[in-house]
Amino acid sequence: MNGIVECKGLEKFEHRGFKVLYKGSIENKQELRDWLLEEGYTLNGEKDIELVAYIIDYLYNGNLTEATRKAQRKIKGSYGFAITNASKAEVVATSNNHPLVIGLGDKQNFIAFDLSSLLSYTKKCCLINNGEICILTPENIVIVSPTGEVINKEEFQVSWDGTMDKGKFEHFMLKEIYEQPDGFKTNLSGRIKNNKVKIEGLELTLEIVKSWKKIAIVACGTSYHAGLIGKGVFENLLHIPVEVEIASEFSYRAPLVDEETLVIVISQSGETADTLVALREAKKKGASVLAITNTLNSTINREADYGVYIWSGPEIAIASTKAFTMMLLAEYLLGIYLGQIKGSISEEKANMLLENIYKLPETASKILAEATQYQKIAEKYYQKENAFFIGRGFDWPISLEGALKLKETSYIHAEGYAAGEFKHGSLALVTEETLMVALCVQQSTYEKTLANVKECKARGAQILALALEGDKEVAKIADDVIYIPRINNFVAPILTVIPLQLLAYYISKARGCSIDQPRNLVKSIVIE
Ligand code: F6R
Repeated sequence: MNGIVECKGLEKFEHRGFKVLYKGSIENKQELRDWLLEEGYTLNGEKDIELVAYIIDYLYNGNLTEATRKAQRKIKGSYGFAITNASKAEVVATSNNHPLVIGLGDKQNFIAFDLSSLLSYTKKCCLINNGEICILTPENIVIVSPTGEVINKEEFQVSWDGTMDKGKFEHFMLKEIYEQPDGFKTNLSGRIKNNKVKIEGLELTLEIVKSWKKIAIVACGTSYHAGLIGKGVFENLLHIPVEVEIASEFSYRAPLVDEETLVIVISQSGETADTLVALREAKKKGASVLAITNTLNSTINREADYGVYIWSGPEIAIASTKAFTMMLLAEYLLGIYLGQIKGSISEEKANMLLENIYKLPETASKILAEATQYQKIAEKYYQKENAFFIGRGFDWPISLEGALKLKETSYIHAEGYAAGEFKHGSLALVTEETLMVALCVQQSTYEKTLANVKECKARGAQILALALEGDKEVAKIADDVIYIPRINNFVAPILTVIPLQLLAYYISKARGCSIDQPRNLVKSIVIE
């Protein structure tokens, strides 16, 4: 049997012997609706998939491949669809600005709209490009170009070891949180020699690195938060200005990037539409694009000029955890690598940073060994309906990430704030019912953050603080304190987030939420 692997969020529709599976977003919907109505179709809903089924039905004259080719020319947007007709045992699929992957099995073949969905079926894959059409039977795969020539595709073997089962863990999210120490080790192995960073596949010269006068980091969601940490890292190590922007805003404001800009796009999936559009916009303007991704052969990877993999292995839970910390580590290593080429970082500083980076696996394991305290804290706070996460400096992006983790998995309304900004309005929301999660890890701003915490405490908020081991001051104000081992402040964000991931996990568990697949969310967002 040939199959269509269903990834999360996939839509299905049947019409007069046609079965359609679809993912994406059609841009010229109204035009297509008007045309179909004129041709006598009754449209029952607003869904794109219904349009695809009727268009194929209209164009079909006994040859599904031909109907698919014609449909492809009519439909504008980012989408992929696969279609079968009851009269023939074949699946025909195509895509436009959307991933489409073929999986090759033993007397069975597969189609998926993202690579990771295939991996529990087969690891032998090939990628389908825009407008190409593939025709699958159990024994055979034919791929044709938009103009009808048969194409020979290169197959590749996915090497991820990550298994798709939860092992001893109740949820993928928890499993993935616990995979972080090993993830750090994987990322470090082979990348540091004689205290010099080397990143596989990245061969940059002094001339190239010096030509970049500015960096613009573009990403969405959790990856955007990683970008905010990246700003501090690259500014410090490379001494050039770094901007960070949400990808969905980047392309629509004529961004000031040019040949002298390095645009760093960050994406776990490597398929996020907003990030991909931003990448294309940056390239159009002549910028060099470097992609930090987790997904080999993803569209973002293929289109970028340079790539750094984060080697997290597949991330199954919708809430991103291990990919975030591996993105941060990739940024630190990239910063040191570029700084060493450019000479903007002293040998002493590089040694000191690498020494601390080497401690990450062990320190992360220590944090994870304290999981029981998170269960207790979760039991105390799980009924809260509002939470604010505050922090300064590097603690601020981690506050944003902590709040995002909590809101997406537990559905508690949670917001992250720069601690100093909180008093400029949001303080009005604080009552006895409010949970304040105060990040007091960064020492250069410690006193100021503590002052902000006191302001919230005075308004009745319950304070859960995150602080470095041995901190006695914070315990005098906070209701509860989570302590993390002392580590150099500059690399601390890579670890500071782990307790917040655990907090979100255990609170969501106490609330009985669908932790791995929160409502309304999908793993990779391939529509703008
Ligand atoms: C949150 C989360 C999302 C993603 C965002 C970008 O836990 O996973 O916010 O970070 O959708 O996805 P990628 O990194 O695949 O581009």
